[in-house]
Amino acid sequence: MESIQHFMIILVLIGILSAYQYKAQSSGGSMTPARSLDALLQDYAYRAFVHPHTGRPYDGQVPSNITGIKIAALRLRSGSLRRKGVPGYKEFQIPTGVIVRPYVKRLVLVYQNLGNWSSTYYNLPGYTHLTPVLGLLAYDAANLSATNLPELTVVVSKSPILINFTDARPVPAGLSARCVYFNLVGLPVFRELVSSNVCSTSQQGHFSIVVNASSIAPPPAPRPGHAKGNKSKVWKIVGAVVGGFIALVLLALLVAWMFRYRQERKMADMERHADVGEALQMARVGNTQAPVALGTRTQPVLENEYVA
Ligand SMILES: *[C@@H]1O[C@H](CO)[C@@H](O)[C@H](O)[C@H]1NC(C)=O
Ligand SMILES: *[C@@H]1O[C@H](CO)[C@@H](O)[C@H](O)[C@H]1NC(C)=O
Ligand SMILES: *[C@@H]1O[C@H](CO)[C@@H](O)[C@H](O)[C@H]1NC(C)=O
Ligand SMILES: *[C@@H]1O[C@H](CO)[C@@H](O)[C@H](O)[C@H]1NC(C)=O
Ligand SMILES: *[C@@H]1O[C@H](CO)[C@@H](O)[C@H](O)[C@H]1NC(C)=O
Repeated sequence: MESIQHFMIILVLIGILSAYQYKAQSSGGSMTPARSLDALLQDYAYRAFVHPHTGRPYDGQVPSNITGIKIAALRLRSGSLRRKGVPGYKEFQIPTGVIVRPYVKRLVLVYQNLGNWSSTYYNLPGYTHLTPVLGLLAYDAANLSATNLPELTVVVSKSPILINFTDARPVPAGLSARCVYFNLVGLPVFRELVSSNVCSTSQQGHFSIVVNASSIAPPPAPRPGHAKGNKSKVWKIVGAVVGGFIALVLLALLVAWMFRYRQERKMADMERHADVGEALQMARVGNTQAPVALGTRTQPVLENEYVA
């Protein structure tokens, strides 16, 4: 009976803790925020095509709730991409020999510069971005009004694509800068730099240069839009405090209940022992009291703490 109550309390405690943990981690929906952003930016980049010329990049406009992100779209014949590459598409240098699968006649390369939103969408615990996160994603160009398009598969058959970061912050002394590549699932892969601000890749995805420090001196320019970030931070802290408090209260209740339970057991034992008679004397064995007959030479051995 008591052990069932025990079990129930622990179960409730674990349930509340894990529910809280889950809420803190997930942001809802089956898509990660970064993937939803990719879909949104594909839509807005395609809107930049009004009367598009093949092979010319067009800068797009992002919705006002993500001001600070820059996008562009470049429409190409896939044969031209393979034979000529794209010598300079913003920071990306695409060599010859790049093909997309499945075969499409024309494709669109969507460029993303996440600017001050980089660590919001591509937070890397223990690391700091020295550059904005840049994205390069390939889509079918067959329907320029299409949304929620799946990415094509990019295959690099000769030399890799280079990313020449133009506005990298200097590497703080004692830290090592590395390239990081986020695949479409969002998993980071670290690589060495090709040169001081150049990374290479054989895949599409998101890229930046990071250092192995969770925080470094902030960039000199003050960041606008701070209040919003602080507000959500405050809510996170409030959530953590409330969650922690509830867990603590439950823990305290559990401890108090266990304490009372032990006391009651002890009282019951003592009452029972008192009934046994004055001939028996209490002696300490292990952690519990056990009745001992006067003058016994051998001390009783405790077999089970809860022996009746
Ligand atoms: C920003 O606004 C767009 C269009 O108004 C909306 O589709 C999108 O979900 C919003 N994104 C975020 C991150 O709030
Ligand atoms: C293009 O995509 C839009 C949006 O999904 C759709 O409404 C339209 O019918 C498509 N056009 C063609 C030619 O498939
Ligand atoms: C990167 O860009 C800088 C400035 O635009 C240029 O001087 C440098 O040669 C480029 N590096 C590579 C590897 O293309
Ligand atoms: C970062 O990496 C460098 C070189 O590997 C190492 O010397 C340094 O201690 C690391 N710093 C941190 C904060 O991990
Ligand atoms: C980025 O900067 C823009 C203004 O340039 C601001 O509106 C936006 O809130 C900022 N984003 C973040 C995540 O701080």
